[in-house]
Amino acid sequence: MTFSRRIPQDLSPNPLAASVAALLARGGEVHDLTESNPTRVGLPYPRDEILAALADPEVLSYAPDPRGRHEAREAVAARSLALGVRTSPDDVVLTASTSEAYSWLFKVLCDPGDRVLVPRPGYPLLDLLARVEGVDLVPYPLRYDGTWHLDLPALRAVAADPRTRAVVVVNPNNPTGSFLKRDELAALESLAAGRDLAIVSDEVFAEYAWGDDPDRVTTVAGERGALAFSLGGLSKTAGLPQLKLGWIVASGPGPAKEEALRRLELVADTFLSVGAPVQVAAPRLLELTAPVRDAIASRVRRNRSALEAALAGAPGAATLRGEGGWYAVVRVPAVGAEDDLVTTLLRDDRVHVHPGWFFDFPGGVHLVVSLLPCPDRFAEAASRLAARLAEWIAGGGR
Ligand SMILES: Cc1ncc(COP(=O)(O)O)c(C=O)c1O
Repeated sequence: MTFSRRIPQDLSPNPLAASVAALLARGGEVHDLTESNPTRVGLPYPRDEILAALADPEVLSYAPDPRGRHEAREAVAARSLALGVRTSPDDVVLTASTSEAYSWLFKVLCDPGDRVLVPRPGYPLLDLLARVEGVDLVPYPLRYDGTWHLDLPALRAVAADPRTRAVVVVNPNNPTGSFLKRDELAALESLAAGRDLAIVSDEVFAEYAWGDDPDRVTTVAGERGALAFSLGGLSKTAGLPQLKLGWIVASGPGPAKEEALRRLELVADTFLSVGAPVQVAAPRLLELTAPVRDAIASRVRRNRSALEAALAGAPGAATLRGEGGWYAVVRVPAVGAEDDLVTTLLRDDRVHVHPGWFFDFPGGVHLVVSLLPCPDRFAEAASRLAARLAEWIAGGGR
């Protein structure tokens, strides 16, 4: 049998996977600082209310609307308003997840072999999402000088290729936690308008800013000079990845936006992939999970402080300054190999972290740590991590 070359047997060969799997298989307690599933970290979900919202008799009838149930799209527009921008439910398309939103946008914006620009470091799944659509991803750099910035000259250079169709921003970015700033968005908008590119802004973590910054962009939805799509979903906004609801909010010059929405609607109508229960429940779910968002935000704050405090005992290692999201990046002096550090941590300290290469850090030694785990377990893991880093740095990577 011949299969598509777009989807090889192993979509993301991971040279570390076998040794990590073997170390995990040894059994015993592992401090998992890769855990990013909010349903597994002891958060206070309003369980009965969530179940009641999903048990509405409305879920028993099937009345498909390709863009999604109107009341659910209104709730998404209300979420944009909470992020500071008025949008219309008519500009919203529901999807089964943010990942599906990417896939529909790649279908609508790109022919096979077209190019989409993505931030580096960035979210690893983008690579697979593009590959399965036959789209080429081209990274553009984020630079760190104490804070993160878009490298606009480098972005302009890669955008010049005529097969470029879209620029993805992840706002705040996973894993750097950096937000797009107003001047960066203005530059991006003029680049996109001048080159007829779309802006695809992944805003799944938009609610999880770590502080206030008037220069920060919380959503690209609203009046835009270029075609722009804001992506989000219940997985992060409500901490409910299992319910499978995402969305796209389209913005930009009227004719281009309307055309994009018609094409998205055609794709949506082909699959009708969003289940009725979650569409019916969405308005209530978004409201009643406010305490979950608060709990996640305070968990992330507390674990960040614990990590900073622990790292004070590992001179040379430090977190890079983030502004939001669920992750921290620890930069370590490059005295040895990143993978050796990750496997040593797992084997000897039973602490599991992601290596920086997984998120396409272009060099150096970085560890990516989830800030979601329960605080007492996190604090123990952070102190083991810091002790290992101190030894590793002092021992020249051994
Ligand atoms: C930046 C980013 N975008 C999208 C997603 C996927 O979200 P969903 O569960 O809605 O597909 C994730 C999940 O971790 C993410 O980190």
